[in-house]
Amino acid sequence: MAGVRVAVLVSGTGSILDAMLGADVPVALVLADRSCRALEIAGAAGIDTELVDREAYGGFGAGFDRQAFTGKVTEVLKAHDIDLVAMAGFGTVLAGPLFDAFPDRILNTHPALLPAFPGWHAVDEALAAGAEVTGCTVHLATLETDAGPVLAQEEVPVLPGDTVQALHERIKQCERQLYPRVTKDYISTLATQAPSPR
Ligand code: GRF
Repeated sequence: MAGVRVAVLVSGTGSILDAMLGADVPVALVLADRSCRALEIAGAAGIDTELVDREAYGGFGAGFDRQAFTGKVTEVLKAHDIDLVAMAGFGTVLAGPLFDAFPDRILNTHPALLPAFPGWHAVDEALAAGAEVTGCTVHLATLETDAGPVLAQEEVPVLPGDTVQALHERIKQCERQLYPRVTKDYISTLATQAPSPR
């Protein structure tokens, strides 16, 4: 595993990032698309941080320049000699050039049992659909959002009276165990392969 440089992409509270750091995932960089608590967690841990602010690329409206934003993210990741990208609550869908630059080198954690409930509102939708069981999925990210090959899944029961917040927190408890473990396993697999082109 030595030498593999992981970048974690974040937008939120960073509790999954925190779990990855606690599990000794070799995080070399934390990159955010907005100011967020996850950047503070990274800074406190002495990890390099980069903010590629969406606001500078048109923000959250129709004018958002996804290609230019993705180009900048890709450039920053390459400048930090990143081998593996792990999205952990990253709130921007990235465009093709990132997937071309890191083929089979982008992981994601999703708070549902994919292919059920893809997208940003997975927990709300599972609850609204009356699902009795949901869970989390770690998968390879591809250009099609939340559709890449599944690496691992774990079920989480929906309990009577669950709110979105309570259910999401229980799912995240699961993600905090599963994602670091699967990421480390994936790194071990990479270590047996030829180095990726930089
Ligand atoms: C996780 O549930 C992740 O799957 C989703 O956003 C959440 C991130 O949580 N996409 P945190 O910011 O790490 O606490």
